[in-house]
Amino acid sequence: MRPTALITGAGRGLGAAIARALAPTHDLLVGGRRPESLDAIVEEIPEATPWPVDLLDHDAVAVAAEGIERLDVLVHNAGLAELGTVAESPAGRWRLMMEANVVAVAELTRLLLPVLRASNGHVVLINSGAGIRANPGWGAYAASKFALRAFGDALRLEEPSLRVTSVHPGRIDTDMQRAIVATEGREYDPTRFLKPETVARAVQQTILTPADAHPTEIVLRPWSPPGGNSER
Ligand SMILES: NC(=O)c1ccc[n+]([C@@H]2O[C@H](COP(=O)([O-])OP(=O)(O)OC[C@H]3O[C@@H](n4cnc5c(N)ncnc54)[C@H](OP(=O)(O)O)[C@@H]3O)[C@@H](O)[C@H]2O)c1
Repeated sequence: MRPTALITGAGRGLGAAIARALAPTHDLLVGGRRPESLDAIVEEIPEATPWPVDLLDHDAVAVAAEGIERLDVLVHNAGLAELGTVAESPAGRWRLMMEANVVAVAELTRLLLPVLRASNGHVVLINSGAGIRANPGWGAYAASKFALRAFGDALRLEEPSLRVTSVHPGRIDTDMQRAIVATEGREYDPTRFLKPETVARAVQQTILTPADAHPTEIVLRPWSPPGGNSER
């Protein structure tokens, strides 16, 4: 039987690229906020099962998670980024970043722990370079990603039957990055950033790592040979 993977935020951006990378080897549940978010990816991968739920609605998440009876891989990819200096960031922004990037992840993991334990499953946390270093204007987002890293570290030690991998990519060419660059008032040049397919390939390799190894942390920075323009 093929292994099953749930990817949150799989309707676009990095999550859709991870779905494409895992489709040849895994039965997929593809998560998105609303059913319409998933139309395109399900058209592209018709074998995938849509799993639409707003991850901030914990009651709805509990109902959606009840229907999952088997799970080998849980990729927490869905996330939000709102930038602003500390001076510009009211409490609501800090709360939203923590709710979307940490609390929602912790709650979905908790609900799915029984099925993950049963399969000696793999939890992949899509973190960020911001989960390792906080730059000016990135405080609330970085704090949420630092917290996500702490969540992963605790989960890895508490649940020895699971593998838990924290993935820390630099800037990726997605809708999220377009919005960030617009906030920064810069011109968008996709060639400066990681391609979603490249990050997805690293996630795929992590998941396909044979069971005698535990990939705990993956860090990917944009790179190009000297003369290129990638944002290192
Ligand atoms: N882009 C970057 O430069 C970058 C760099 C490092 C790390 N990351 C991380 O990579 C992950 C994916 O980012 P991305 O750039 O692909 O983002 P994106 O293009 O903004 O897509 C975000 C995804 O998250 C889903 N999502 C957001 N809030 C949700 C909620 N409440 N319930 C359910 N789904 C929700 C969205 O679903 P809908 O389509 O339904 O709205 C969408 O599929 C995030 O965790 C992000 O922090 C991104």
